[in-house]
Amino acid sequence: MNDSYLIKGGKPLKGEIILSGAKNVALKTIIGALMFKGDVILKNIPRINDVLDLIELIKSLGAKAEFIDKNTLSINADNLKNNQVELQYGSKIRVSFMLFAPLLYRFGECFVPNPGGCRIGARPIDRIINGLVALGIKVDYNSETGYYHAKIINKPRGYYRFEKPSHTGTELLMLIGLMTDEKVVIDNIANEPEIDDLILYLNSAGANILEEKNKITVKKSPGLKQKNTFTIMSDRNELVTYATLAVASHGNVAISPIDENLIASFLEIMKETGAAIEKITDNKFRFFYQDGIKPVNIETSPHPGFMTDWQPSWAILMLMANGSSVIHERVFENRFSYVEELKKLGAKIDFVDVKVENPEFFYHFNFEKERLYKQTIKIQGGAELHNAVLNIFDLRAGAALACAALLVRGESVVNGASILERGYEDFVGKITKLGGDIKKV
Ligand code: EPU
Repeated sequence: MNDSYLIKGGKPLKGEIILSGAKNVALKTIIGALMFKGDVILKNIPRINDVLDLIELIKSLGAKAEFIDKNTLSINADNLKNNQVELQYGSKIRVSFMLFAPLLYRFGECFVPNPGGCRIGARPIDRIINGLVALGIKVDYNSETGYYHAKIINKPRGYYRFEKPSHTGTELLMLIGLMTDEKVVIDNIANEPEIDDLILYLNSAGANILEEKNKITVKKSPGLKQKNTFTIMSDRNELVTYATLAVASHGNVAISPIDENLIASFLEIMKETGAAIEKITDNKFRFFYQDGIKPVNIETSPHPGFMTDWQPSWAILMLMANGSSVIHERVFENRFSYVEELKKLGAKIDFVDVKVENPEFFYHFNFEKERLYKQTIKIQGGAELHNAVLNIFDLRAGAALACAALLVRGESVVNGASILERGYEDFVGKITKLGGDIKKV
């Protein structure tokens, strides 16, 4: 299997990118579709590895799913027959734990494997399991098999407050809320726009979900049935990958379709670098290089802040800056797998210690006092870079490494293409259209 990219870098990338649908909405709308009666038609579903794997998973449960054109997926789960997620899928697809919702809805009990280790930190689901229990679901964990057994004794109801917000946690508990005969209230929720898109999808099919600032209330909802096909939003993470690459390569790339409000924190920080951003139409922006790149420090945080998914791309832009900058990761532990790889290109990056008051509150993962964390890097921009062989260990880091290889002269090999392609549709095609020299080997 061809799982590497051969990249000849050093050219400014120029042209146009049409964004694909958002991975982090596609996955949830597919899982949500298992709670619908009849056919569900989803448009703008990206053909990425995570989606293709999830489709295999839902088929293993008895659902029908097929692409009826390039990005339109048709799903029918009327004959769902299996309430156990097989380990082979659970270990591959992290969001498979969101299947608690449709499987409980359809069968009243289910068996779901612990999503286990992950390359961007431990990523436990403790808050999410606590939420299920708080809403009245019985959950047992078998540490020998690694499976959760969840069962509905009484219909879910009540109140749960996330100690710290969780994106997929908010979404899962909201889906659980669709089973209530009374009311489910989820507090201190995550606010990512991808969650809003999921709410739009469910409410347009009859759900009764109300989102206020930090709270979601789900009232008794009739069975879900799709009235109109649903088109999922564009991928904001993809936008950031190509926008930073455009500027870092001294290029010029127009990107659409995107709603300005969804990328406000990115646009604001991008402007600070001196990059040019031209609003071509309401949903189309051009990003281009002009007069150098100023170093800008960032700190990641959940929406509406600077997203954690964007920081590896930011590191690539900062490699090209005139001076040093700092990236402080607050959301996940261990999200700097790209650092050692970038050093192979000659990048000057060091981990630095930053004193944080009240780290238990400041960091969004479960902070342990005794552990040593590496949450901050300092990048010395402007270092002489050269080609190298790089290895991808996680999705967003992967995109950053492929982009870094596109910036340096000479031929680089980037191993682990299938990890990048878990989240980027037609990466090779899109880069080639921008004039980049990349092929799968
Ligand atoms: N956390 C816990 N316990 C929990 C839940 C979360 O400790 O029960 C921790 C996580 O380990 C993390 C922090 O809380 O340190 C925030 O996690 P969150 O649950 O919000 O993240 P997620 O739902 O696992 C989703 C996206 C991520 C994106 C984050 C932040 C999906 C499938 N994944 O992850 O996307 O970075 O929200 O918006 O929606 C990606 O696309 O590459 C990606 C990682």
